[in-house]
Amino acid sequence: MTSQEELKKQTGYKSVDDYVSSGMVVGLGTGSTAYYAVERLGQKLKSGELKDIVAIPTSIRTKEQAESLGIPLVTLDTHSKLDVAIDGADNVDPFFNLVKGGGGALLREKMVELAADKFIVIVDESKLCGGLGPTFPIPVEITPFCHEHTIRTIAALPSCEGCKAVLRMGSSSNNKVDGDEIAVTDNGNYIVDLHFTEAIKNVPKMAADLKALCGVVDHGLFCGMTTAVLCAGADGVTVTAPEKKNKAEKIVKNMAFLSAAVGLLAVSTMIIRKR
Ligand code: 5RP
Repeated sequence: MTSQEELKKQTGYKSVDDYVSSGMVVGLGTGSTAYYAVERLGQKLKSGELKDIVAIPTSIRTKEQAESLGIPLVTLDTHSKLDVAIDGADNVDPFFNLVKGGGGALLREKMVELAADKFIVIVDESKLCGGLGPTFPIPVEITPFCHEHTIRTIAALPSCEGCKAVLRMGSSSNNKVDGDEIAVTDNGNYIVDLHFTEAIKNVPKMAADLKALCGVVDHGLFCGMTTAVLCAGADGVTVTAPEKKNKAEKIVKNMAFLSAAVGLLAVSTMIIRKR
């Protein structure tokens, strides 16, 4: 196994070990890193270490892998709320914004991951970047109907200024030109990859502008969704989480401490008064 493959395995396995427990509804991502999370879940179900799990796959590929491992599958139609979703990413910026969809599964990934209480992102160090755009093109899923018009409209958006919009050809599961036919997603749509030479200035604004365009089904910018990033590197797997969640957790902990202290004070006062 190459060392990058080993890193993917480390983070994929750790995500299941640390975030999945029996009885959960689990979202299964797509791609070469998510592959290892699915593999680990299959192992733990088979050994009996995990029980009563149902999972929701984010692509046909992942569905097939999960089925081959005997993982019980459901859909968002029967289970609108997930305990956790685990998935890879193509890029992660310092604000925990993600680029996803290099593997063409962005729509199902976003639907499933938005419905999860926790969204755990599993990557190796090569995915971290200072700003989204130049290191990985932004995939946008569009309807086949008048797709050339939609591509022109996207490229003309002020928030997409400077991008080169390239229709994905060949297989939808990567952004290389590996065929003569237009790539078609699991949902029957096309993908246009937006290439940037400079970092996108306002990622949430671009995300909102793309989403508002008629003809765009969804895009690969995942903003404000990440619960934690498990990043595998030379020193092992590092876990980082957006500050606001840390802050919220601290506030809850402080409040619990404060109310325990107030309770203690009240009880002591009562005892002293009785004496
Ligand atoms: C698929 C995705 C993948 O999560 C993303 O492309 C990362 O894949 P990999 O782990 O193979 O690098 O968004 O649509």
